Amino acid sequence: MSEQVYQRCLNPGCGATYGVDESYFACPACGDLLDVVYDWDRLEVPDSLGWFEKRWASRQNRLDFSGVWRFRELIPFCSDSYRISIGEGQTILQPNDGAAKYANCQADRVLLQYEGLNPSGSFKDNGMTAAFSHAKLVRAEHVACASTGNTSASVALYAHACGMKCSVFIGSGRIAYGKLSQALDFGAQTIQIQGDFDDCMRQVQNVCRELKLYLVNSLNPFRLEGQKTIMYRVLEGLGWQVPDWIIVPGGNLGNSSSFGKAFAELKQLGLIDRIPRLAVINAAGANTLYDLYEKQGVRWQGGQLNMKVIDDYYAQLNATGYRPHTLATAIEISRPVNLKKCLRALEICNGVVREVSDEEILEAKAVVGRYGLGCEPASAASLAGLKKLRAEQVIGADEKVVCILTGHQLKDPNITVTYHIENKGQYSNRPFEVENDISKVIEALQTASGSCCSGR
Ligand code: F0G
Repeated sequence: MSEQVYQRCLNPGCGATYGVDESYFACPACGDLLDVVYDWDRLEVPDSLGWFEKRWASRQNRLDFSGVWRFRELIPFCSDSYRISIGEGQTILQPNDGAAKYANCQADRVLLQYEGLNPSGSFKDNGMTAAFSHAKLVRAEHVACASTGNTSASVALYAHACGMKCSVFIGSGRIAYGKLSQALDFGAQTIQIQGDFDDCMRQVQNVCRELKLYLVNSLNPFRLEGQKTIMYRVLEGLGWQVPDWIIVPGGNLGNSSSFGKAFAELKQLGLIDRIPRLAVINAAGANTLYDLYEKQGVRWQGGQLNMKVIDDYYAQLNATGYRPHTLATAIEISRPVNLKKCLRALEICNGVVREVSDEEILEAKAVVGRYGLGCEPASAASLAGLKKLRAEQVIGADEKVVCILTGHQLKDPNITVTYHIENKGQYSNRPFEVENDISKVIEALQTASGSCCSGR
């Protein structure tokens, strides 16, 4: 076991450690989550974040070009020979005054981090490049995941790049077609289980244990290492300045967990002098984190969680046969596997959690579409959450806020088209149907209201 980098059980009462050349998705000793831990004193780490800028000039080197691996000194769990890249992380941070106005923030204070620009169209590629690099390290041949869609698309793409077999488990009827089409097109063995994501998540763990498959869900601690780089790129986009807030949708809670770890490590390394606040936004129809954190007051408390409250909550979900339901299918999850790590991140970042309705999500999504880059429904929860937190005065109008747009607009075109054609909201932009006649077309052009860029 390398002593510079190892895996450690999250449970302070256990604290068992394992080498990075071992592959577990739960602590073999107690079943809790695992972390990747670095002994930074024994690793070579740059003394300023600006050091990474030198990599901008070397596009020929795949690892320097990758928006994940150009930060490899901050995720040093394997050598270059195992690192795989397909050009992930070429994503941008862009100020968006349309979104700022919508959320009642000052101009220039709201920025959107568009992770839809990744090769498979979602933030998942940041994590998958790291998970697959570890899969290569442990010589995995067959990987598996449960997914609401984006994970499966990303896994299928990286499995192809690594020459590994992949099986993806999806719930029946709860996956947007853009995502399903990717998994099928990329050749993933696709198992549609009669159930929802939580059922798939349970099954895939059992199957992975039974058949010794390599699990690439965010239970995999190496995947979360890759997702830390989203925060590094946010800082990069701000000239290495720390924003006041990061807002992110919450589903299985991998992103929020990795963001907290990223900032804790940067602070420990002296690479940043303060940590931004974190807001995690649930869909109201899948609001376990909101219920537990905001209503029941569950806190990380250095790992001394009140497990009884959590266990009782889940027992109640089971007893009532509760199923989450939201149009934002990506985050339709009621038993988030990274709950504990997310609670830790909320402690690190003095975080808050909010829930937003499907109507709020659809409206915010339409705003991102009209004034920004477009995104899928789950991603828009971040802007909807910002609007809510501004209305509550939790976030000030002059605070600098970064909303993470987790997935591409074309992931779920049905929702978008229905919103516009069926006039579902104030931003609906219905197409006009006209006779195939020049005068009718001109008449329509002159009467139809346009909406181009009016809110920028
Ligand atoms: N946004 C999008 C577009 C997602 O696909 C997901 C998760 C999330 C947000 C939530 O992120 O789990 O880190 O809190 N999608 C997973 C999947 C569950 O299977 O594609 P999280």
